[in-house]
Amino acid sequence: MRVAICPGSFDPVTKGHLDILHRAAKLFDKIIVVVVINPEKKVSFTAEERMDLIRRVTQGIPNIEVDMFSGLLMDYVRDKNAVAVVKGLRAVTDFEYEFQMALINKKLNPNADTLFLTTSAENLYLSSSIVKQIASFGGNIADFVPAEIVEDVKERLCPAQ
Ligand code: PNS
Repeated sequence: MRVAICPGSFDPVTKGHLDILHRAAKLFDKIIVVVVINPEKKVSFTAEERMDLIRRVTQGIPNIEVDMFSGLLMDYVRDKNAVAVVKGLRAVTDFEYEFQMALINKKLNPNADTLFLTTSAENLYLSSSIVKQIASFGGNIADFVPAEIVEDVKERLCPAQ
């Protein structure tokens, strides 16, 4: 079984993430979506909440599992016998950082590769932080996050609305 890992903060999962997950799930037997816990990062949703949001929006994709992890991604990849890490790549601005991480990760675990899927054109501008900013001002986020979780994001970021 060929397993790939889709890691990220997913704070919260967006339509851009979901597009990548759908496409990755077609390429591998199993995808494990991993909420990576970074204690230094200020987040709006707990890791458990983020996992729950991902589970709800990926219900229709049978070969997706959701998990969380704290530590070196490549230790997790090794532990799961995964062959690849799949990430979405938006603009060139993502590239330098992602390229650096891919090279370091290859060094840490030569048995796994990083695979970049180019984002769909409609999600080029999308990020969790932009979504949170729009939601915090009461803006419409329906185009940016899956319908199942729009209310959760609105309630968390702009409870008065
Ligand atoms: O959604 P994000 O915040 O862009 O995801 C970044 C993430 C979580 C994939 C990245 O920070 C990561 O892999 N963290 C785990 C720590 C690690 O393995 N660091 C060494 C790689 S350079």
